[in-house]
Amino acid sequence: MEDLIIKRRSIRRFQEKPVEPEKLTELFEAARYAPSWGNLQCWELIVVRAVEDKLKLASLLSPKNPATKSMETAPLVIGICGDPLKSGYYKGQQVTRYQHWFLYDLGIISQTLSLKACELGLGSVIVGSFDHTTAEEFLGVPKGYELVALIPLGYPDHDPPVPKRREQNEFVHFDRFRS
Ligand SMILES: Cc1cc2nc3c(=O)[nH]c(=O)nc-3n(C[C@H](O)[C@H](O)[C@H](O)COP(=O)(O)O)c2cc1C
Repeated sequence: MEDLIIKRRSIRRFQEKPVEPEKLTELFEAARYAPSWGNLQCWELIVVRAVEDKLKLASLLSPKNPATKSMETAPLVIGICGDPLKSGYYKGQQVTRYQHWFLYDLGIISQTLSLKACELGLGSVIVGSFDHTTAEEFLGVPKGYELVALIPLGYPDHDPPVPKRREQNEFVHFDRFRS
């Protein structure tokens, strides 16, 4: 597992080879086991397959987003949606100071998908910088749900180096937070 965590990279170039339906089933089977607030599993995933749809999504990315080409060429793009009023709410009332715990759950399922994809020999990149409103309309996301991330997925066509990471001693605090 540790190897997988270290091996996983954001993949932004894909082979043309399609993703086998059995692999996709395995991927989503793993995603079912992601932890979530109160086990509410507030996520909904959209698998975008048509070339013209992927091109449209690519056009909605922030200018110069490094994932633009990957959105155009990946065999699949997974839309990560969620209901913002489940996680962190009890009987409609917000129960902590945070309104947006659903983002946490969607982050966890995204990482679960990314790691499982890597295990299956697939590559992915989590994309968060795009015109969410237009993308939601385009993908038919119903009112009450939000499209938070897009994840292009396919067989990797490059092996990028590890972007620089902070050292443990730069972010791990024992006993008290020390600056
Ligand atoms: C919430 C989130 C949003 C991201 N959005 C984008 C994005 O819009 N475009 C992009 O190219 N990469 C995006 N990334 C990927 C990061 O740039 C990448 O994870 C980071 O540079 C570390 O590289 P690595 O994933 O290869 O370890 C995003 C990652 C996360 C977790």
